[in-house]
Amino acid sequence: MKGRRPRPLDDGDSGEARVSGHLSWAKPIENKRAFWLAQSATITFMSIISNCTASVIQDAAKSLVNGNLVAFPTETVYGLGADASNEKAVARIYEVKGRPVDHPLIVHISSINNLDKWAKNIPEYAIKLAKAFWPGPLTLVLPRTSIAKDFITGGQDTVAIRVPSHTLANQLLKEFESLGGCGVAAPSANRFGKVSPTNSEAVEEEIAKFLSESDQILDGGQSHIGIESTIIDCTKGVPIVLRPGSVTLEMVENLLGQKLGDLDSSNREIKISGSFETHYSPNAHVVLNGITNPGDGFIALEEIPTPTGAIRLASPRDNVDYAKALYCALRKADSKGIKTVNVITPAEHGIGLAINNRLFKAAKVL
Ligand code: TXA
Ligand code: MG
Repeated sequence: MKGRRPRPLDDGDSGEARVSGHLSWAKPIENKRAFWLAQSATITFMSIISNCTASVIQDAAKSLVNGNLVAFPTETVYGLGADASNEKAVARIYEVKGRPVDHPLIVHISSINNLDKWAKNIPEYAIKLAKAFWPGPLTLVLPRTSIAKDFITGGQDTVAIRVPSHTLANQLLKEFESLGGCGVAAPSANRFGKVSPTNSEAVEEEIAKFLSESDQILDGGQSHIGIESTIIDCTKGVPIVLRPGSVTLEMVENLLGQKLGDLDSSNREIKISGSFETHYSPNAHVVLNGITNPGDGFIALEEIPTPTGAIRLASPRDNVDYAKALYCALRKADSKGIKTVNVITPAEHGIGLAINNRLFKAAKVL
């Protein structure tokens, strides 16, 4: 069963959807949680599908082949997917996200076996990384082949590739490839500069109103890592971490038995996550390790007590839990109308480095 009932924009959760400004009532679409949009006189819906069975995934893969967008869960965050070989479909990703068109996208594939379709001159250390961490939260930046067009790479000669481990994502990619597709371009499914979604409700909140009736959001529960993949530049003699993530520096150095390169000025010219002023930002003002006033939101490890009058938004047990809870907590601040959130940053080891990287950007201190 594809799951869910209609979910009206303007109304509680009644069996039928009422559209704001229109006195019309519409019958629910069976087996779908439909999202109703009032666009002047026309009414459209896009579907948000839970209980993603094999047939739902096949339909979604066909929909991608037909040039539609499909938002899907990954173990890091939810992605907004399009056929990476279809320029029009990819252009819609940029429209829906409100993202600058020269900002490159990650191509998602189902297995390392498809890597050489997209990338060439792959160094030995990149193969080692892929074998160790794929499927998983690691993206490799490599020299591109001719199928990685400028509309994916932002005109750069490199392409970013990832094999996600989330079962639903992996099945979707397999189905898509079985229909002749080569890869799915998928940025995080949020509006540009905003907080990445880690569940289907957050995707709906971010972008549903920009999607069209043939697009879909697949619901696969909460992303279990909660922050975006580690991105490693593999185009130089030594690997360079462009974006820290849950595959940590220590894990990479231990595997390769070598120190990683520095992010020098030549790398900084590449348009990578967070190179814009606002990134991972909720509407609330994020303060790091500051003074908490009554009514402020507060995020810190469980062992740190809540200051008097503050609204506790998350109490993660450890850094792994912190990564998983962070984006939901920032969203919660906005849904509660909180103006300022004070965040006590975790110690900068392991995944703590990635958490602080996102927090510095959310607080605009980078
Ligand atoms: O965990 C993730 O990586 C998620 C899930 C959906 O897979 N995706 C994601 O995509 O975070 P996005 O577009 O929100 O962030 C990817 C970052 C972008 O900032 C982009 O600039 C950078 O990867 N990127 C893409 N291609 C690149 C390239 N060829 N060289 C350097 N950076 C690149
Ligand atoms: Mg993103």
